[in-house]
Amino acid sequence: MIVDGASPAAIEQAAGALAAGELVAFPTETVYGLGADASSDAAVAKIFAAKGRPSDHPLIVHVPDASAVALFASEVPAFAQKLMQAFWPGPLTLILPRRAQVAAAAAGGQGSIGLRCPAHPVAHALLLACAQAKPPVSGLAAPSANRFGRVSPTTAEHVRSEFGDALLVLDGGPCRVGIESTIVDCTRGVPVLLRPGVLTRPQVEAACGQPLHLPAEMEQEAPRASGTLESHYAPSARVRLMDAGSLQTALDVLGPDASGIAIYSRVIVVTRSDKVLRRRMPDDAGETARQLFAVLREFDAQGVGLIWVESPPDGPEWDGVRDRLQRASAA
Ligand code: TXA
Ligand code: MG
Repeated sequence: MIVDGASPAAIEQAAGALAAGELVAFPTETVYGLGADASSDAAVAKIFAAKGRPSDHPLIVHVPDASAVALFASEVPAFAQKLMQAFWPGPLTLILPRRAQVAAAAAGGQGSIGLRCPAHPVAHALLLACAQAKPPVSGLAAPSANRFGRVSPTTAEHVRSEFGDALLVLDGGPCRVGIESTIVDCTRGVPVLLRPGVLTRPQVEAACGQPLHLPAEMEQEAPRASGTLESHYAPSARVRLMDAGSLQTALDVLGPDASGIAIYSRVIVVTRSDKVLRRRMPDDAGETARQLFAVLREFDAQGVGLIWVESPPDGPEWDGVRDRLQRASAA
């Protein structure tokens, strides 16, 4: 059931359901999340079951503000503190050492915990109402509200199409950021970028005053992170990334017979077929991130078998979009 997230009664209803161990989907500025009381292993188990996600994949715990971090993390390095000050509330998740006995199921059994303070008025109102519930719910474990391996939802309607009408969904409108948060692992002494998002590498490095490392540069094995599986975020249609020239050549070769293909590109391609869907990719990386998952879902809904996407430009502001497209095309 989709309800208006701006309504105080809806927030009360959602907080009550969460305190009773139920699942509720809610909007964040990045994508919609499928939430449960992070401290209840039974409630968290419902998330894994609903998503069809392996239960050793850790979830992000959402908190109302930085003061709640101490409830879940045993230690916060100085550079992580700087990142929270610079970007919270906002699209940044920090992986921190987990307090023993706390949120074990949400953490997928790992000794670390992912924490994020989202910048969305509905998420914020919900987190506050949960913190005031009796007994209080001090954090919401919430992965993206899609079935495992699928494209993340950026509208309430997307969530309903994934899980049906029985799930309570707070509607907060279309997500402003559109791709999932940047994830920085803060458990290894230096900051390590696990997943790029809309915050650029130079921005993150400037805020913490240190270079950001990549998992491949680190000696220890990276923690399990489904968002970092090579093939992920995939629509049903096969996605291929190509430069503008190859896109046009492929259409020329198919000529009037081209069909079942959708094109998402900055260049305007020419085709002799009237059965090719075309949609223009914005020149701005942030705008592309905002619409990317909705565009992939729309192409899927129109039943195309192939989605051909022009490779995004180089440049750090495109890292998040490039990452999601590479994973979608690896499926
Ligand atoms: O923007 C977002 O981050 C959205 C919204 C709802 O906040 N959430 C989201 O959650 O994308 P999810 O579960 O789809 O992706 C979370 C990623 C996964 O790749 C997970 O493995 C990783 O975060 N993660 C969470 N806790 C971790 C931990 N302790 N160590 C390593 N990776 C972790
Ligand atoms: Mg996800």
